[in-house]
Amino acid sequence: MGPVLFVPRPMFLWTSFFLLAEGLLYLLYVKWGKFRHRDRMLALHSWTGAEQVLDVGCGRGLLLAGAAKKIRDLKGSGHAFGIDIWSSVDMGANSEAATLRNLEIEGVRQLCSLESVAAQEMSFADESFDVIVSNLCLHNIYDRPTRELALRNLVRVLKPGGVALISDYKKTGEYAKAFEGMGLAVSKERGGFFSTFPPLTIVVARKPL
Ligand SMILES: C[S@@+](CC[C@H](N)C(=O)[O-])C[C@H]1O[C@@H](n2cnc3c(N)ncnc32)[C@H](O)[C@@H]1O
Repeated sequence: MGPVLFVPRPMFLWTSFFLLAEGLLYLLYVKWGKFRHRDRMLALHSWTGAEQVLDVGCGRGLLLAGAAKKIRDLKGSGHAFGIDIWSSVDMGANSEAATLRNLEIEGVRQLCSLESVAAQEMSFADESFDVIVSNLCLHNIYDRPTRELALRNLVRVLKPGGVALISDYKKTGEYAKAFEGMGLAVSKERGGFFSTFPPLTIVVARKPL
């Protein structure tokens, strides 16, 4: 067998550059950006500490713990609920136990409750929550009718005057249109350029009083 000649062509270099840049941006999101994004999302609401909060697809508790800390710092009577189906499709070693451990570490375990239920199947009473948050969850519902069911359910459990802050990297146009169709006032916020990868958009939907 003769020697193998390795000739780096421009095409190969560009592909390597983009793959490396994507890897670095994702690492930045995981290690730093997600906390910045969480703070940015939570800053879209003026907290009193009395809020009943729902985190849809809470995963390991990023937003759930953040919301509970707002309630704790304001010495309020609020409570934060997290729902999830603990899928490991885009979150490895995902489990209720891991989330409970994180809530303990963050010192907010007493202010939080977890329930294992899908967004489209949650059975909380109508108009239960002042604030609903969700990050990188709803795109995991692959068929449109089921996603719409989840969005309708989400609006059902939101109190009049309440706000839903729904962040995702795709389908946010669809969420915004569905919320508008249900009579909510909707705007969109872009996630930070360096702090979110894939780039995230936050749909801000307010339910009229
Ligand atoms: C990428 S993780 C994001 C977790 C967390 N929100 C965060 O930002 O770190 C997506 C989460 O959504 C959950 N999930 C997927 N489909 C769901 C559904 N239909 N209802 C509730 N949770 C769901 C997954 O189990 C997973 O924990």
